[in-house]
Amino acid sequence: MASDNYLSDLFSLDGRTAVVTGGSSGIGRAIAGALARAGAQVVIVARRETDLVDAVGELVADGCQAAWASGDLSTRQGVRTVAEEAVAVFGEPDILVNSAAINLRPPMGELSEEVWDTTMAVNLDAPFLLGQRFGPGMAERGFGRIIHITSQQAHRASVQSGAYGASKGALESLARSQAEAWSPHGVTCNTLVPGFVKTPLNARLSGDPGKVAELAARTLVGRNGLAEDFAGAAVFLASAASAYVTGQSIFVDGGFSVH
Ligand SMILES: NC(=O)c1ccc[n+]([C@@H]2O[C@H](COP(=O)([O-])OP(=O)(O)OC[C@H]3O[C@@H](n4cnc5c(N)ncnc54)[C@H](OP(=O)(O)O)[C@@H]3O)[C@@H](O)[C@H]2O)c1
Repeated sequence: MASDNYLSDLFSLDGRTAVVTGGSSGIGRAIAGALARAGAQVVIVARRETDLVDAVGELVADGCQAAWASGDLSTRQGVRTVAEEAVAVFGEPDILVNSAAINLRPPMGELSEEVWDTTMAVNLDAPFLLGQRFGPGMAERGFGRIIHITSQQAHRASVQSGAYGASKGALESLARSQAEAWSPHGVTCNTLVPGFVKTPLNARLSGDPGKVAELAARTLVGRNGLAEDFAGAAVFLASAASAYVTGQSIFVDGGFSVH
């Protein structure tokens, strides 16, 4: 059918290779699944092997091409090692998704240097290092997609933004710098900005039904986000369809941010 060809020319990821950090849980897992189901070969990166095996097993059972590489993104050596392990599976990636992150929330006055450093290492340094490792190759090959996951707290302070908000604000700036460098060579760099999505990242907040309802009421859609809400935006940003979208922060938040 004409519409099948039309849609696959725009959005199919057949023949593409993706690395998705944090792809074993929450939003990253949904994005990894979406890219794999759209045709990409996907390598998922995180620390815990049981979750990695589970996420990859689900995709392979669905007929997708997926694999995992376990590594700790909180150290520079850990990032370098796992990047090479990821490449060893399906080759150099066309698509890099940085979803792995941590959110430690001490009150600002008690925010230690250790929490600051760990937060920056996982949330900002790892995406930077992976960009340096994969971005130039993408540019040389003339196609690439870098997608970071940031946060409302990159734009406004709430619920003890602390180091987390600072790391996410910097990550959006990094995306713009990467876009400036590599967009002329076919590599777009964008961020997806979630609202509130119940995942292990915010287990404490998720356990407070009053707060969860309050957050849902702040959206225009009238509910909190689901990890699956990111599937379409991720496939779009990873595909040929988004060739002219770069340096952008795209809010997938049910309208949370616009009022
Ligand atoms: N959920 C929300 O409401 C929300 C809101 C705004 C922004 N976000 C952003 O969305 C992204 C995904 O969050 P999520 O809610 O889906 O979180 P999640 O379910 O907690 O998943 C986090 C993922 O990152 C991995 N990870 C964490 N630390 C790592 C490390 N040192 N090395 C390697 N992997 C590591 C985790 O696996 P291991 O623990 O096994 O390593 C897991 O796969 C994050 O960037 C987050 O900041 C989420």
